[in-house]
Amino acid sequence: MTTAPHTASRPDASIDGRALRTVCGSFATGVTVITSGTGDDAAGTTVNSFTSVSLDPALVLICLHENSRLLPVIRSSGGFVVNFLTRRQEPVAWAFAGRNTARLAETPHHRTGNGLPVLSDALGHLECRVATEYEGGDHSILLGQVVGLGAPADQEDPLLFFQGAMRELGEPVPAHGR
Ligand SMILES: Cc1cc2nc3c(=O)[nH]c(=O)nc-3n(C[C@H](O)[C@H](O)[C@H](O)COP(=O)(O)O)c2cc1C
Repeated sequence: MTTAPHTASRPDASIDGRALRTVCGSFATGVTVITSGTGDDAAGTTVNSFTSVSLDPALVLICLHENSRLLPVIRSSGGFVVNFLTRRQEPVAWAFAGRNTARLAETPHHRTGNGLPVLSDALGHLECRVATEYEGGDHSILLGQVVGLGAPADQEDPLLFFQGAMRELGEPVPAHGR
């Protein structure tokens, strides 16, 4: 078997972080804001590392950078909310990305019965209790047990992320596909 000269698939080669980020950017995802904090510490961070893991028990995971300001908030409250963003929430996605993230107080939200913040205009949300935290290089992998959910805006189109840019679906989602 021959390898095309333009592919760099040497398993022993050290991988450049920027190249890894660029190639991973070709995997299209939805966009979430993870919220946590039951009091004045309530905060949010834009995340696309969300994955659904298991139906029974109901488990999902997210990956957060070890320096994320949201990590201690999640560890202290013991839970987090995954908010799936709509196409119209691109400004919200950028507001909660980067070092100077938006204050949650400036974004419409309400609280779950456990006191965790939910973005009121999101496509849907999953409220999670942290089941396990794993080390994953420079990120923490948070496995969350889903304890509550809702999808009040599921007639909206989702916000997508692909090759470093926010995108939207090329065609409307058919009503019968829901
Ligand atoms: C589309 C998109 C997806 C992102 N996904 C993640 C992610 O999965 N995990 C992460 O730690 N940071 C992710 N980030 C970066 C964080 O949003 C950003 O570093 C963070 O807001 C910094 O603030 P914090 O210290 O409050 O986390 C993403 C940013 C964007 C724009």
